[in-house]
Amino acid sequence: MILVTGANGDVGREVVRQALAVGLKVRATFQSPAVAAQAPEGLEGVIMDYAKPETIRPALRGVEKIFLVGPPVRDLPALEANFVKEVRAAGRKHIVKLSALGGRESMFPSGHRDSEEDIEASGLPYTFLRPTGFMQNLVNYNAGTIQSKNAFYGCQGNGAVSIIDIRDIAAVAVIVLAATGHEGKSYALTGGESLTNQQVAEKISRVAGRKINYVDLPPAEMKQSILSTGASEWSADALVDLQRFYREGKASLVTDDVERLTRRKPITFDQFARDYAFAFRDEARAAS
Ligand SMILES: NC(=O)c1ccc[n+]([C@@H]2O[C@H](COP(=O)([O-])OP(=O)(O)OC[C@H]3O[C@@H](n4cnc5c(N)ncnc54)[C@H](OP(=O)(O)O)[C@@H]3O)[C@@H](O)[C@H]2O)c1
Repeated sequence: MILVTGANGDVGREVVRQALAVGLKVRATFQSPAVAAQAPEGLEGVIMDYAKPETIRPALRGVEKIFLVGPPVRDLPALEANFVKEVRAAGRKHIVKLSALGGRESMFPSGHRDSEEDIEASGLPYTFLRPTGFMQNLVNYNAGTIQSKNAFYGCQGNGAVSIIDIRDIAAVAVIVLAATGHEGKSYALTGGESLTNQQVAEKISRVAGRKINYVDLPPAEMKQSILSTGASEWSADALVDLQRFYREGKASLVTDDVERLTRRKPITFDQFARDYAFAFRDEARAAS
């Protein structure tokens, strides 16, 4: 039995889908009973909150491996530490942690590094999956202005990023969850090419059938724009800091970890854009 946390999140949902497809026995955690009730057939759903140890213990019963997804918030290290403490108490279970590339060089990955260090110190078997930025961010965070303004906004300048499709992260996760030999390893998960936001805009324009622009903003203006969506000060700072990291070209590294593990090339941005064209096309704008 594997446990997938954050099973309603973007990565967790895809890990569940691919794990069930290869016949793994899956227990999945949700925070809300209403969301758990909508879970796909064939999995065991449980309600769990990292902040409530009494909800973690039953989720761990009978589980051998865990896919751990924490929310991208300031408290991520503390929330995951609560969880890891319960895993230790429950016995020897392998934690496959969704982390982030970047180490101590930016705020989001640094929080993940805190959590990784806590897992390393726990003595539990672990594997760290460290992806770069997700292609699906363009759908989750930018499709709104792509539809309303034919543009998306950022402050990463001409920095190229080796963005990855979430489906590739999930494919690697399922391989690691299904087999042995990955204990103590860290994988740097990237797409097969590094793209600037100007290149991303060109590729989205092609599938959208109209010109989409990337608009680069000064970091302070970008922060205000993020705050206006209701994000916390910490989240706004972390997002702007991540784009500083991107702007400096520090996320342009392309690795072959996805290909080595999955034995196929990573999904290209062109493929991603075709698969998600519905989110960028005029029909989506008309329907919204
Ligand atoms: N976006 C990127 O480009 C990028 C790049 C590298 C790494 N990452 C990392 O990837 C992770 C985000 O993955 P994602 O896109 O799948 O995130 P997501 O869609 O925001 O999902 C986060 C999940 O965490 C769960 N969660 C939140 N608070 C919880 C709590 N207190 N107890 C239990 N579960 C809780 C949520 O559960 P419910 O849905 O049940 O509420 C949700 O399913 C973050 O750690 C982020 O730093 C992101």
